[in-house]
Amino acid sequence: MATPLTVGLVGGGKGAFIVHAHQKAIHFDGTRRIVAGALHPDPKVALDEAAAWPYPIKGYASYDEMIAANAGLPARERLDYVLIVTPNHVHYDPAMKAMKAGIAVFCEKPLCLTLKEAADLVRTSRKLKIPFGVAHTYLGHWTSRFSRYIVRQGLIGDVRWVDSAYLQGWLATKAEDTGNQQAAWRVDPRRAGGSGCGGDIGTHALMQLRYVTGLDVTRVSAQLETFVQGRLLDDHFTVYCQLSNGGKALVRASQICIGCKNELGIMVAGTKGTLRWRQEEPESVTIQLPGQPDRVYWRGAVTPGDGFLPKGVPKALLAEPTIPSGHPEGFHDAFARLHRDFEKDVRAWKAGKAFSGAGPQYASVEDGWTGIAFLDACLKSSRRKGAWVAMPKAV
Ligand SMILES: NC(=O)c1ccc[n+]([C@@H]2O[C@H](COP(=O)([O-])OP(=O)(O)OC[C@H]3O[C@@H](n4cnc5c(N)ncnc54)[C@H](O)[C@@H]3O)[C@@H](O)[C@H]2O)c1
Repeated sequence: MATPLTVGLVGGGKGAFIVHAHQKAIHFDGTRRIVAGALHPDPKVALDEAAAWPYPIKGYASYDEMIAANAGLPARERLDYVLIVTPNHVHYDPAMKAMKAGIAVFCEKPLCLTLKEAADLVRTSRKLKIPFGVAHTYLGHWTSRFSRYIVRQGLIGDVRWVDSAYLQGWLATKAEDTGNQQAAWRVDPRRAGGSGCGGDIGTHALMQLRYVTGLDVTRVSAQLETFVQGRLLDDHFTVYCQLSNGGKALVRASQICIGCKNELGIMVAGTKGTLRWRQEEPESVTIQLPGQPDRVYWRGAVTPGDGFLPKGVPKALLAEPTIPSGHPEGFHDAFARLHRDFEKDVRAWKAGKAFSGAGPQYASVEDGWTGIAFLDACLKSSRRKGAWVAMPKAV
């Protein structure tokens, strides 16, 4: 068996949230493990938190120190990748430094704060030919991959309309004034970026649309709104979009919808039928065809050649579920699928072979750039009262 890949954490100490889903997912298969971490901006806390980590890891006082310590090592001894799970303003610097030290990067979304930073990251990863993944969790659901297959094969016809939405309610009141660590930086433009709700969860809705349909957004008409008084960033984000095939879409996100938990969902209306998927019930995809009862496809229980699906559904797609249908997969499994696919690329890269650079497996640094470009266009449009604004040219 191959030696497990080694992962270093940037962020993740003292009350941190998303590191825990990642750390479970990294250890899912036994082929990757976390061995080091720079877990907090305060050097002493960073070392204390590493010492208190539930299994032994090497603690560093800062990510600069962790990266510098690895930069001089032969490739086989160096960390294989860093996982960046810090607030958005601490993505660019460690990602850039890790790449320059010859360490692959798996970074949380949104990729960074500005379009210039995003372009720098794309150019550097291309120049150094280094794997760089962005943690758009929901692409890791088998049902997202199945949806992508259905839509991209044209099984529901040409895409006319997409409604991709991510609705939450946890910021319906001023959670940031109650000591909520996650809320505090998300409403702060210096740490979150130019858009609050749009950057935090609107980028997931955009990525889901692009992944499932294979289409790009070409122009946006956006309204970024703030319902909770005194907040500097949007907590409600609504974007009417023109798609690259001439279709239209709504990409929307909200954090003030009381009762909504993590309602990410997508509806794709094509000329022959409609596809619906919801992440809160991520094990099935519904297909609606004219004059027929709805078809519900469950992960792991799909029959090619059933009158809707062709006989040639790719074997790799059918083989992907890790547990039989009916034993529910969820959020952690989705993260695990992303790390599993990223691992393949890191291993290929380490062996001096070509690697896929994401494609259908996980969001790439280019996808991360697109998220930032989308926010940039939406901010411009919203400032002009929803005027149509073209997406920036790709790097
Ligand atoms: N993919 C997803 O589904 C998903 C879900 C939640 C959060 N996120 C993203 O993950 C990132 C982190 O979000 P969170 O909710 O876990 O935040 P959090 O506040 O819970 O955790 C952030 C961590 O980063 C640490 N940190 C801050 N600055 C640091 C520095 N200079 N050096 C080392 N550590 C530092 C903090 O101490 C903390 O441990 C954000 O970019 C967020 O958008 C993604």
